[in-house]
Amino acid sequence: MKRLFSNSEYPPAGIRWAATAVFIFFVTAIPFTVSAEDEVPTILITGSNASHGLAFAEEYAALGWHVIATCRTPAKADRLNALAEKFPNVIVEELDIVDVDEINALVEKYKGKPIDVLMNNAAINSFRFGPNFFGKIDYEWFEQILKVNIIGQLQVSEAFLKNVAASKQKKIISMTSTGGSIGELEIPIAPAYRASKAGLNMAMRAYALHLKRKGIIVGIIAPGTVDTADYMNAEDPSTVPRNYRNMMKMGRLAPRTAIDDMIALIDRLTIEDSGVYYEWTGRGIAW
Ligand SMILES: NC(=O)c1ccc[n+]([C@@H]2O[C@H](COP(=O)([O-])OP(=O)(O)OC[C@H]3O[C@@H](n4cnc5c(N)ncnc54)[C@H](OP(=O)(O)O)[C@@H]3O)[C@@H](O)[C@H]2O)c1
Repeated sequence: MKRLFSNSEYPPAGIRWAATAVFIFFVTAIPFTVSAEDEVPTILITGSNASHGLAFAEEYAALGWHVIATCRTPAKADRLNALAEKFPNVIVEELDIVDVDEINALVEKYKGKPIDVLMNNAAINSFRFGPNFFGKIDYEWFEQILKVNIIGQLQVSEAFLKNVAASKQKKIISMTSTGGSIGELEIPIAPAYRASKAGLNMAMRAYALHLKRKGIIVGIIAPGTVDTADYMNAEDPSTVPRNYRNMMKMGRLAPRTAIDDMIALIDRLTIEDSGVYYEWTGRGIAW
């Protein structure tokens, strides 16, 4: 049989070069594809079926992050499920932050998965609602608020610590409230909520100190009341709930863009900011 190439030129130089080029392409391109995927940061958000949590999930999804959007009842989380349909980078997971079995199951599911930002957003947000006044306090409810708002956040943070430590950005964010400031207290209502956020601040500040040598940043951020429902631009102002109308009058409602401001704040947090108590504007708050 006639040979295509002579022995001295088998295969010829041109084909050898082409083969080498193909080899180099695969050796370099395959790992590049994998690391490019790894470059996409991941955020886990608690309580992402409503207001602030949902807004954060929407914004991070639009930025292209992998979003693990957790909530207590995925079957009823219509708006979150709609978001996950729109963005394939959003995964909805069930998580009650005080249910140890659910926490452990989710930790097991995401074992080895780096989580760049763990956003502790879920809380019983009772500043404006419920038996908030001295003389009318429901102490069982008080206990539940402390459990969810302090223990829940810390428990979830400790459970996912390995995931955060394995990530590039290494950030645990704690959504607190200006209502937790002892130094800035003016109106003596909502003692349960205020106590829960003051206690949370201490727990996360201590956790920040504990984690500092590992390079893990703990951001303690008071988001303010953000107009996540876009009431400020309502066509018919009479459809705006009265408490929101009052907040607008008093200048206490932050525009929806405050969510972007917080994302920018979270983005620029360094280890020097770990354990510092910030308002969404970037202002430091008195403990
Ligand atoms: N809005 C404000 O004016 C304001 C001001 C300062 C600070 N903050 C803080 O910002 C964060 C978000 O507030 P928000 O206004 O978005 O509150 P929100 O509208 O009341 O939503 C709270 C979220 O937390 C979830 N949640 C409650 N208990 C939970 C539990 N045990 N496990 C898992 N999820 C739970 C709720 O889920 P369900 O729907 O299942 O109940 C809901 O998704 C909170 O930490 C809040 O304290 C809010």
